Amino acid sequence: MTDHIDLDWFEWHRRYEPQSGSHLRRRLQVVQDLLSRTLYECRPGRIAVASLCAGQGDDLFGVLGGHRRADDVDALLVELDERNTAEIDRRAAAAGCGTVRSLRADAGDADVLSSVAPVDVLLLCGMLGNITMLDAERTIAAIPMLVRPGGTIVWTRRNVPVDQTPRLRSAFDAAGCVSVDFVAPPGDKFTVGLERFEGPGSAFEPGHRLFDFVGFPKLAALGE
Ligand SMILES: C[S@@+](CC[C@H](N)C(=O)[O-])C[C@H]1O[C@@H](n2cnc3c(N)ncnc32)[C@H](O)[C@@H]1O
Repeated sequence: MTDHIDLDWFEWHRRYEPQSGSHLRRRLQVVQDLLSRTLYECRPGRIAVASLCAGQGDDLFGVLGGHRRADDVDALLVELDERNTAEIDRRAAAAGCGTVRSLRADAGDADVLSSVAPVDVLLLCGMLGNITMLDAERTIAAIPMLVRPGGTIVWTRRNVPVDQTPRLRSAFDAAGCVSVDFVAPPGDKFTVGLERFEGPGSAFEPGHRLFDFVGFPKLAALGE
């Protein structure tokens, strides 16, 4: 586990406030739109959702209110900062729909998903830009044991100082995914991808290490 303390990840969420005008606020809107569409398109019945490095769950909670499939959602949000997991729990109680559970744990350890994998929807938002590209590729390569065939992955990545999205998209292709959407607003700093995992799936492998959370300031300094 890592040194993720170079930023206050509770305060970080203030960038989502509507008045912030931040690119993260704009990114959140795109993520929520794609996630909402994804939930509508899920097969009938329970929708298993997992989020790695979930923060306060803004992506999911922003979609659940009034969504026709909200009560079908059974979500596990894995997050390390206990102030954020407390906020997830508060929001889940307030939402009064679906099932949203927080798990305070290191999401770099794939075992955190052992009870829910393979899921229908995997959220990799705000995390691929906080881990090395090698770890990002390792995480994407694990999709066959994390996501059921036909399932969906919503992911984000900043495109500064280096645009790593071509490499990430190749990794999704190699893992058996098909790009359903890729949003990269001209002149903005964020991208959002929607992938469908076409299979084949693989058995869950206990003890699988996905990534160490490094944090984007350090990665940017390393040229990633
Ligand atoms: C950039 S934020 C993204 C939050 C959320 N996914 C979003 O897009 O709004 C990264 C989050 O990862 C959390 N985090 C850092 N290291 C982690 C780890 N090893 N396991 C789980 N969460 C971690 C931080 O506390 C922070 O809330």
